[in-house]
Amino acid sequence: MRLNSVAGNQSIQNTQPDGDNLVQRIASLTALTLALPLALTIAGNAAAEPLKPVEQIETRQAGYQFMSWNMGKIKANLDGDFSQPQVAAAANAIAGIANSGMGALYGPGTDQDIGDVKTRVKPALFTNQAEVGEVARNFIEAANNMAEVASMAEGKGDVKAAFGELGGACKACHDKFRKD
Ligand code: HEC
Repeated sequence: MRLNSVAGNQSIQNTQPDGDNLVQRIASLTALTLALPLALTIAGNAAAEPLKPVEQIETRQAGYQFMSWNMGKIKANLDGDFSQPQVAAAANAIAGIANSGMGALYGPGTDQDIGDVKTRVKPALFTNQAEVGEVARNFIEAANNMAEVASMAEGKGDVKAAFGELGGACKACHDKFRKD
């Protein structure tokens, strides 16, 4: 957006090279040269600097809570009046988290409580990679399927099975890798 509008201004200004426009043009170019490194710095930090272990635990728990809230909304739609837009929005939110790469929030040092921040993760999650990968893949598949089905749903009957499978995928992981 920003790049387009800067480029747009420049081409208009190039056809009218009077003093004011030159000042504006320099201002635009300055904004561009300042904005670009800033954008690169923000993107660079996000990739290069992992969260601290305590932040990883808090962030994964927040992600699960947020998914749980959205699962509750879908359930309410199945138990009561059905609003396709609400179900689709909730399903998209869950799929977004499922596809966000939560594995990155299980880094070294996040296998046990850190101060007041308690974790319920089982040690097996850090040692049994093949099985973790399988339940995680099943979960992502179920979340994507739920989002797809919800986008076209005309009623409860269209999403019931996908919702059941998704809930089952949450539970499959909890049974193996979360303490009660
Ligand atoms: C790949 C494994 C896995 C999947 C899939 C998964 N969970 Fe979890 N969940 C966990 C683990 C591990 C914890 C414990 C995290 C911790 O305490 O550090 C957890 C914790 C939670 C919590 C408690 C969060 C808190 O505040 O302590 C809720 C709620 C939850 N999950 C809901 C869900 C729902 C809903 C889904 C499906 C939409 C889901 N989970 C899918 C592994 C999973």
